[in-house]
Amino acid sequence: MTVLDPRSPATAPGPHIRTFHPRRGRIGAARADALARLWPRWGYDIDPAGTAFDAEALFGRVAPLVLEIGCGMGEATAAMAANDPGRDYLAADVHTPGLANLLALAEREGLGNVRAARGDAVELLRDLMKPDSLDAVHVFFPDPWPKARHHKRRIIRPDVVALIRERLRLGGVLHCATDWAPYADDMIRVLRSDPGLRDLHAGFAPRPPHRPVTKFERRALAAGRGIFDLVFERR
Ligand SMILES: C[S@@+](CC[C@H](N)C(=O)[O-])C[C@H]1O[C@@H](n2cnc3c(N)ncnc32)[C@H](O)[C@@H]1O
Repeated sequence: MTVLDPRSPATAPGPHIRTFHPRRGRIGAARADALARLWPRWGYDIDPAGTAFDAEALFGRVAPLVLEIGCGMGEATAAMAANDPGRDYLAADVHTPGLANLLALAEREGLGNVRAARGDAVELLRDLMKPDSLDAVHVFFPDPWPKARHHKRRIIRPDVVALIRERLRLGGVLHCATDWAPYADDMIRVLRSDPGLRDLHAGFAPRPPHRPVTKFERRALAAGRGIFDLVFERR
C-alpha cells in the first residue's frame, strides 16, 4: 500500500535507488539469543506491501515518535532514548546484527521506548508511514558514498528529503550528522533547497549535547575528520 500524497516527488516513477550496501555479517551467539527472544515483542519487519505502520500497536502507547534511519549498532539510539523517556524511538537498519545489539542494549538498560525496524527505511517512510506522523528524524553518519557515480545513493538527496519532510509534523526536526565534509556541504545544499524545511542554525549546528558520541564518531575524530551536525525543522 502507499499512504503518500500522490503529488509527492517521492512517488515519481522510476526505480528506487537503494542507499545501503548489501552486507552479510556474523551475528554471534549473544546477539542471536537477544534477537530470538526480543524480536517478536520489539521488532518490526518493514514490508512495503504490508499494512500501514502502527506506532501505538508497536510501542503500546501514544507518544511523539522519533525515527532513526541507519542506526548501525544502536548505541546512539539507546543512549538518546534513555534520556528522553517521553518519546518513542524507532531505529531502522538493514543490518540484523546491529538491530540485535540495540535490542540487547534496550533490555539491559530497561528501555521501554525503543523498537527496531529491519529493512529499507525509505520504503517504511514511503509506503507505510502516514504524513505528519513523526516528531523527529535522525540520520547519523549515513554512508557517504564518496564516488561521484554513487552520489545518487546518498540518503540525503532531494526525493528522500521531501519524503522525510512529509512524514514530519509541522515543527518536527530532521537532524543529520556526518564526518564527511563534501557530503556535509551537499547536505546543506539539498536541505536548504527543500521549500518545506527551515535551517535552525543558519549552517552547521553546534554539536547538540543530546547526540551521544558513538564508536563510529570516535574513529572519525581519531582520524582527524571534523563532525558536522545539521538541524532543520519542517515549516
Ligand atoms: C555508516 S553506518 C552509521 C551507523 C550509525 N548511525 C552510527 O553513527 O554509528 C550507516 C548505516 O545506515 C544503514 N542504512 C543505509 N541506508 C539505509 C536505509 N535505506 N534503510 C535502513 N538503513 C540504512 C546501513 O545499513 C548502515 O548500518
